[in-house]
Amino acid sequence: MKLLGIESSCDETAAAVVQDGREILSNVVASQVKEHQKYGGVVPEIASRRHSEAIVSVVRQALQDAHCTLSDLDGIAVTSAPGLIGALLVGVNFAKGLALSAGLPLIPVHHLRGHIAANYLCSPTLAPPFLCLVVSGGHTHLVQVRDYTELTVIGQTRDDAAGEAFDKAARAMGMPYPGGVHLDQIAETGDAARYALPHPNVSGSPYDFSFSGLKTAVINLIHNAKQKGETLFVEDLAASFRHTVVECLLEKTCRAMRDTGEQTLVIAGGVSANSLLRKRLQETCGQAGWKFFQPSLALCGDNAAMIGAQGYYEWKAGHIGGMDLNACAAMAIGQPLC
Ligand code: KG4
Ligand code: ZN
Repeated sequence: MKLLGIESSCDETAAAVVQDGREILSNVVASQVKEHQKYGGVVPEIASRRHSEAIVSVVRQALQDAHCTLSDLDGIAVTSAPGLIGALLVGVNFAKGLALSAGLPLIPVHHLRGHIAANYLCSPTLAPPFLCLVVSGGHTHLVQVRDYTELTVIGQTRDDAAGEAFDKAARAMGMPYPGGVHLDQIAETGDAARYALPHPNVSGSPYDFSFSGLKTAVINLIHNAKQKGETLFVEDLAASFRHTVVECLLEKTCRAMRDTGEQTLVIAGGVSANSLLRKRLQETCGQAGWKFFQPSLALCGDNAAMIGAQGYYEWKAGHIGGMDLNACAAMAIGQPLC
């Protein structure tokens, strides 16, 4: 079963061909990040326009790289939620047109389910049930994946997502958008003990996260240092911030693993590329005797191969969209899209 995956929920226009949910035949990503960098974040209007310009050539390239034509495909999987609405609509409408003209089934895919499915492409033995920590620019979720299309959120952020907090803290430290990866690199040479940052806690919700207080603490610390004319040790502050975020993620995730009795932990989303998070989870799972899976660095961020992978399992579950399919800016991961 060969699926074309299409992804346009944020600032990457992506298309891929995936075989049976597990094998990447092609994977093309056109990033707009350079353009959004000028504004310090994604400008939704610009994102939609760039998707419209790029989508035909990106899909063509994906088919060409996979040595196939539309007639070799068995379906078209597309991210229909959640994300920037104008950006999602470009992918959804393009997929509808293509599915209609080629007589192929249209398979709507939830973006975060896609991030989780990136792991199926990297780890042939991985299969539900497992617990997944989904950490992206827009979401921070602890998800019980009972089956490929049966997912329950047991914890989430009350305010900023982990990636958003990384990006805002990095911006305050003078790094370009998206700052998560820069902050991660700079933190490698820093001393996390120089600055004490608050360890956020959410009362009454054992698996929920909160990052906005931590982000504000970093911003205030930088302002105070500037006002007083004190030297700011950016490497050390980056190391302290990264350490605090990672320890928070680790603490809640481990608690959820123990309480649920799950034996397998998976991470997904852009922040799963964070080097300290990967290292700490690997160590912790090793000590606890839990199996641990993480996507390759190339598949942590937004791509369409992950949409083709999840699309396969949605298709198997009979989740086929009609020609009235719409995009949706916000949608719970457990909800059916059609
Ligand atoms: O999943 P993703 O590509 O897009 C969304 O669905 O949101 O995640 C992007 C986020 C950004 O906030 C980016 O800064 C963050 O992932 N990110 C990182 C790292 N690489 C990407 N955050 C921390 N450390 C990294 N190495
Ligand atoms: Zn994403």
